[in-house]
Amino acid sequence: MNTVELIRKKRNKEELSESEIRFLVTSYIKDKIPDYQFSALLMAIFFNGMSTEETAHLTKEMLYSGKVIDLKSIQGVKIDKHSTGGVGDKTSLILAPIVAAAGVKVPMISGRGLGHTGGTLDKLESIPGFRTDLNLSRYKSVVNKCGTVLIGQTKDIAPADKLIYALRDVTATVESIPLITSSIMSKKLAEGIDGLVLDIKTGSGAFMREEKDARKLATALINTARAFDKKVIGFITDMNQPLGNYIGNWLEVYESIKVLLGAGESAADLVEVTLQLSGAMIYLGGKASSIEEGVEVSREMISSGKAFDKFLEIVKLQGGDVSLIKNPEKYPKARIVETVRAEKSGYFNAIDNYALGMISLELGAGRMTKEDVIDPKAGIIFYPKLGDKIKEGDIIAEFHTGRKNKIEDMKNKLYNIISIDGKKKAKPKLIKEILI
Ligand code: URA
Repeated sequence: MNTVELIRKKRNKEELSESEIRFLVTSYIKDKIPDYQFSALLMAIFFNGMSTEETAHLTKEMLYSGKVIDLKSIQGVKIDKHSTGGVGDKTSLILAPIVAAAGVKVPMISGRGLGHTGGTLDKLESIPGFRTDLNLSRYKSVVNKCGTVLIGQTKDIAPADKLIYALRDVTATVESIPLITSSIMSKKLAEGIDGLVLDIKTGSGAFMREEKDARKLATALINTARAFDKKVIGFITDMNQPLGNYIGNWLEVYESIKVLLGAGESAADLVEVTLQLSGAMIYLGGKASSIEEGVEVSREMISSGKAFDKFLEIVKLQGGDVSLIKNPEKYPKARIVETVRAEKSGYFNAIDNYALGMISLELGAGRMTKEDVIDPKAGIIFYPKLGDKIKEGDIIAEFHTGRKNKIEDMKNKLYNIISIDGKKKAKPKLIKEILI
């Protein structure tokens, strides 16, 4: 096959066949196609898109560039969840124990935070001793023992994605629906799952800011999952404000513990999204006859204490300090805890949620580059929810940080990204659509 002809074909909006896509991906990972040609191909895909079939073929080649974990020896249905990420999105920490306690296996391979969004691995690693770098045999044994496991990407999982993602990153081709879809799905399908629940976020703190784009991505992900005979349900959920109130690694573990203990009333939005997702996972796992029944089962897992016990079991099996989960108040506090008060009265009507995530990052909770070291104690507790009435002087946020020099600047930034005015606007709808 001729690489130039295949690039031309895609440039001319023609469809690539399975064997052509196989040739392109396998040649690229064997260094037989140079970066400049693969970059041209990526740009042609960026502009002209891919059909459902092409996206499935690309996903397949990326998936089989590495290992597909075989979990057949482990009894039960295996269901995972993938979220496109956002600010304060800690649902994985809460739903993995809920769903595992309900008898559905949850093998999770998660990512790190980069930029304004947090990552499940960084959150878990804020628990002293918690190991996310388990090898595949330990991964299997932990799922088998406690029903769930949460680890990071290994070098055996979809190595083609690592190479292609790095090239996309430097060629302005990240924001392409077929490329995002194949990247996400090649890694998820490698986990050995039977089904997947997708949480596609939309709004100012999301990757897909516009709802129409979130819907397109959801559709592409769902079509690809179905092409691999996986059960799948997609949710489009709001990310115009943080999910829950806590943003930052340990702060999010702390809020998750509160929810697992049934004390998360203040974080009604977090509880609602998490239980919808866990309900869908329990339904796909065959332990409920509908999502609604799955939500009820999830509530029982919390009220009976089974979900919290399961969380303790996960932390113990993955090497974490269980005593801090039982007594989270003993976790060391950030050196500085600074309150931020409202400068005026009115309705809290808007926030740039991306910018809020960036403030948390600057306070020490995230990384600008992969090499940056994060402060597990740093972050923000952000109290109001869109549509709430606020009085001048009310505490709207708490900054947790070790960086004294950042505080004034970050306070001013926060005042600039929120809008408090006289007329109440409608609250955003939290669950915008369920694609089933
Ligand atoms: N997450 C991924 O894993 N890949 C993408 O391309 C975008 C988000």
